Amino acid sequence: MSAIKINGGKPLVGRVELKGAKNLVTKAMVAALLGETPSRLLDVPHISDVEVVSGLLELHGVSITHDPISGDMVLDSSKVEQARMVDIDAHAGSSRIPILFCGPLLHRLGEAFIPGLGGCEIGDRPVDFHFDVLRSFGAVIEKLPTGTRLSAPEGLHGAKISLPYPSVGATEQVLLSACVADGKTELSGAAIEPEIIDLISILQKMGAIISVDTDRVIRIEGVKRLTGFTHNALFDRNEAASWAAAALATHGDIFVGGARQVEMMTFLNVYRKVGGGFDIHDDGIRFFHPGDELTPVVIETDVHPGFMTDWQQPLVVARTQANGLSIVHETVYENRFGFTDALRQMGAQIQIYKDCLGGHPCRFGQRNYLHSAVISGPTKLHAADIRVPDLRGGFSHVVAALAAEGTSNVSNVQLISRGYERFIQKLGDLGADFEFQA
Ligand code: EPU
Repeated sequence: MSAIKINGGKPLVGRVELKGAKNLVTKAMVAALLGETPSRLLDVPHISDVEVVSGLLELHGVSITHDPISGDMVLDSSKVEQARMVDIDAHAGSSRIPILFCGPLLHRLGEAFIPGLGGCEIGDRPVDFHFDVLRSFGAVIEKLPTGTRLSAPEGLHGAKISLPYPSVGATEQVLLSACVADGKTELSGAAIEPEIIDLISILQKMGAIISVDTDRVIRIEGVKRLTGFTHNALFDRNEAASWAAAALATHGDIFVGGARQVEMMTFLNVYRKVGGGFDIHDDGIRFFHPGDELTPVVIETDVHPGFMTDWQQPLVVARTQANGLSIVHETVYENRFGFTDALRQMGAQIQIYKDCLGGHPCRFGQRNYLHSAVISGPTKLHAADIRVPDLRGGFSHVVAALAAEGTSNVSNVQLISRGYERFIQKLGDLGADFEFQA
């Protein structure tokens, strides 16, 4: 378990560079399983989630090379083979991506075994939509004590599917299963996040026929085979928003190289309303604290094109400095405010409620989930000893320690490297005052 001792109270100033989005790259690597010729993915970050997916792909006979500096990755899936259950099971609890291996492995091998899933503990995170989708395509699913075994005795065939909620993962499950399924698939209630559109671009390069229609409808015509692809991964807009929040919370000024306006418009509107400054450049976005008092605002997280759930945690830290009552209504995950315990320990005034406080009722309102937060500010943050609970919550803890007066100890920071490349080096590049204990 690694830790950092942070001497807070200094602005973060400088430049960081983004690579491809964790939530695209890991899915693009799974898509490569469908290609009969090698694929080349550019801008792949050196993060532990990528290592987990690489490990699982290699177990299935995919050969992978990754240059961690340039981010150039080549995946050769021409010799996909069955992996040993015991080796797959060694990956239990490490990530949520293995659930997306189901469709591609059923196509390539006729059967699949996936380990117990991991990922951040931010709600129940069931996989019922995934299994319903796979059954619609003709998969037979068997739960085992250690994982799940799937087979497709008749192969996978196209289906008409309607998702009860526009789930990112379940939409990707449909895409990765439908492209080489027999016949046509129509998905309604699809998620349309930019990372999904980028995955669709990749699949189209591979030979798939996919159209994204109005009202969250995606149509796919199955084709016989897919080839490999060459693709420059979409930038990581979650990392961009995280550094933007860090600039605001520390009265800093950070240029985020590779960030683009179009995919971040909703975030930029909120950032401006809170009082943050930004300049859009061709090669990135500069985020800074303009020096004025911050303004309290109401944020409701939502699926795209709404305000992403992954953006709220780091921004909550800056909002402890706004003058008045700020609100976050979390409508994507039912349990994503665990990270506020540490912020309260550091002097923030944050209350969590079961009601839908944003103005719009959500599916969690009647179900007793603590899913709305009220932040009263401004409050001075002081140092504390805290433990990283999950990826985005952990980033917010580090930001709080950087903004607080005094020396904080933040433990379990290796969790942050699941999704933030060169995190410790970037803190150094931005002038943070800290000691890292690996
Ligand atoms: N859901 C179900 N059943 C399912 C699938 C989802 O009830 O079978 C529910 C979830 O419990 C949740 C909601 O639907 O309440 C949305 O979940 P979704 O499937 O959209 O999320 P995901 O695919 O598991 C991805 C990202 C998350 C990001 C969400 C929302 C990856 C690996 N993860 O998760 O990223 O928050 O979409 O945009 O792509 C992160 O990067 O820190 C992170 C958590």
